[in-house]
Amino acid sequence: MNTLPPPDLHPTLVELARRPVPRYTSYPTAPQFSAEVTPARHAAWLDEVGQAGQAISLYLHVPFCRALCHYCGCATQAVRRDAPVRTYVEGLHQEIALLAARLGRVEVAHLHWGGGTPNILPPDCFAGLMEDLAQRFRLRPDMEHAIELDPRHLTAEGARHLAAHGVTRASLGVQTLDPLVQEAIGRVQPLAVVRAAFDHLRDAGIAAINADLMYGLPRQTLDAVEATATALAALEPSRLAIFGYAHVPWMRPHQGLMPQAALPDAAERLRQAAMARAVIEDAGYREIGIDHFARADDPLALAQASGHLRRNFQGYTDDDATTLIGIGATAISRTPRGFAQNTADTPAWRRAVAAGQLPVVRGKAFDGDDRLRAEVIESLLCTFDADLAAIAGRHGATAACFADDLVRLDPLVAAGWVARTEARVTIRSHRHELARLVAAAFDAYLGQQGRHAAAV
Ligand SMILES: C[S@@+](CC[C@H](N)C(=O)[O-])C[C@H]1O[C@@H](n2cnc3c(N)ncnc32)[C@H](O)[C@@H]1O
Ligand code: SF4
Repeated sequence: MNTLPPPDLHPTLVELARRPVPRYTSYPTAPQFSAEVTPARHAAWLDEVGQAGQAISLYLHVPFCRALCHYCGCATQAVRRDAPVRTYVEGLHQEIALLAARLGRVEVAHLHWGGGTPNILPPDCFAGLMEDLAQRFRLRPDMEHAIELDPRHLTAEGARHLAAHGVTRASLGVQTLDPLVQEAIGRVQPLAVVRAAFDHLRDAGIAAINADLMYGLPRQTLDAVEATATALAALEPSRLAIFGYAHVPWMRPHQGLMPQAALPDAAERLRQAAMARAVIEDAGYREIGIDHFARADDPLALAQASGHLRRNFQGYTDDDATTLIGIGATAISRTPRGFAQNTADTPAWRRAVAAGQLPVVRGKAFDGDDRLRAEVIESLLCTFDADLAAIAGRHGATAACFADDLVRLDPLVAAGWVARTEARVTIRSHRHELARLVAAAFDAYLGQQGRHAAAV
């Protein structure tokens, strides 16, 4: 084991890796959302989307799991029985009806079920929701239909049911295959369980499979990361995501259940990230942005090659729709006018949709500077490069408006990790893990509000 060289651990790199910065799945980021976006304002935005008549994307949030994994940072809750899930599904139908009343029978290009654990939905609930969506919207025949699944709860029959309702892509949470780490994180899931999930999906005709891995977990070692990445790559998923464990106990107190003293330090996290990347690239995957990898023929790799890779709340995507409508408690929508987030309080969300009101409680209307900076940040995270002059030009400005932001890159430029002129910023290929930090230099709001997990 450990056949691959660890990266050089420059002291500045370790220091920078500890810095708290957002993941930039949106810009402006969630801490900037405020009550300025009301249900009435979002309703007006939705009316405009309906009138524009362009294809949209849908995200349905299912905030339930059978048990909570100790590390989990997702908006979800543990339920033993189906009753709360069924009640929630009634609310989803109500919200779908409210949205359709504004949007009309708009075309849907991408449909994504996230969570939580969407495969907790009883089969009749999933079928009923798909029927409802197909009646109220025009689901494109070639629509990408993706779902996040917990392999521990996926049966052969369950996979066939998903395929019968048009699912084309599945994303499996794996995290680690090391038994000691699995015990520490409260998620026991042997390789045989993961292999069976791959088999069930492939037998059902769902060939596009993603797998999520994590590093930086308690008791995780470099050997454990290497062994997990090697075993998972051998199952030949079409995509792999490698997430650094985000330690945010102020938001997710249950993370305190894990042995904190056994968390790897910043230097070890950097080594683990480099190890996972090396194993996965060695197995023939291409690096997509900061934390995804894909086979060369996967749509994500093709989008990257053609300059069409995008970043949204689900991470990297080839979805180029300008509107993404989030449905369910905590879900976030993006329209050309701004972000709107539903309440995270599930009973309050239920009451709102039952009363015929959009359950939006906060958001951010875009101004010109937000749009300009969002494009720079998305470009850095998708291509590790930002042509500041070209981007500014598209927004009626010049690259000179970034003069103060560029100064913040001084330590990275001095170390040789970032190339910078007045008109362009490029992250050198051996330091792509610094992309979030480079993006943060262009974040006009950073430091104003919000706490974040470490940069790497
Ligand atoms: C909704 S879950 C995936 C589907 C399913 N619930 C499961 O766990 O198998 C989304 C993914 O987020 C990642 N994740 C969850 N908590 C995290 C954290 N604190 N830091 C980094 N990644 C995290 C995990 O890799 C997880 O697979
Ligand atoms: S990682 Fe997945 S299964 Fe575990 S608590 Fe989070 S959403 Fe649920």
